[in-house]
Amino acid sequence: MANLQVTLAGLHFDNPIMLASGILDSTPGILRRMSRMKVGALITKSISINPRPGYPGPTAVETTPGTWINAMGLPNPGLNEFVDEFNLEDGSVTIIPNLVADTPDEFAELAQSVAAAGAKIAEINLSCPHPKASYKGRLTAQDPGAAAEAVEAASSKLPIIAKLTPNVTDIGEIAVACARAGASAISAINTLAALDIDPELERPILGNGYGGLSGAGIRPIGLRKTLDIVQAFAEANLDTPVIGMGGISDADDVARYILCGAHLVQVGTALVGNPEQLNDITDGLSEWMDRKGYKSLEEFRGRILEWF
Ligand code: SIN
Repeated sequence: MANLQVTLAGLHFDNPIMLASGILDSTPGILRRMSRMKVGALITKSISINPRPGYPGPTAVETTPGTWINAMGLPNPGLNEFVDEFNLEDGSVTIIPNLVADTPDEFAELAQSVAAAGAKIAEINLSCPHPKASYKGRLTAQDPGAAAEAVEAASSKLPIIAKLTPNVTDIGEIAVACARAGASAISAINTLAALDIDPELERPILGNGYGGLSGAGIRPIGLRKTLDIVQAFAEANLDTPVIGMGGISDADDVARYILCGAHLVQVGTALVGNPEQLNDITDGLSEWMDRKGYKSLEEFRGRILEWF
């Protein structure tokens, strides 16, 4: 039987499938329910130092079947309430806080607080595509220097996964900057900057106007960006693991990302209305590996690189 185990920054995960930030993770109760699924780790909704109310609705709309546009506005109760409410210390599944901030100092403060609350690793969101405030008018993950500063600040407190945006010309350059600054892993991709219009109402479909696109339609873009990062790391002699995401809805999609060189993956949009899909994806990966005769993930990770 296939061995799905994987380690990241010294942490052990039963399988490479993580729950992506922002989906089914906004309360301790929902996370508890998700921890009973066959999942390697759970990532929380982004946490900021101060509470954020989020944008007015509509905040998420399905544009074509399986593909969604959203602009939630990073709603969260703020750091203090998060640390009080969420138990990061025990439980069968690792809970990874996702942190969002406007400056390196804020990232360091968040990282220090969640480390004190028991987090072993955190993901930093450098890539929400529609922030109200952003580093020098750009997303942090659109500027290698800014991204590196945020990673350096946060990773001085605990191991860090840097979550990158696809909305750049060269995601490999940003990933290399983050890895050299101390990131333990890179996760990619966050949503694509997007807009949709209601022609009847003659207005943007989302309350915020702009949004980010996720779900089935973006999978080929996520795969391409994952491969770009893996290739950039190979060229730079870096062995930083990549966590691939974007449009994963079944085991074949997980295999696609691992064939591109991803160590782990995150699943989000496909679980809307169907959280149990996580179990099917994990079981399906095991079956796919058995059928192919693979005993471990290493045996097929990055196989697609020989085509490029
Ligand atoms: C949101 O809360 O608006 C989305 C967050 C993100 O895309 O990073």
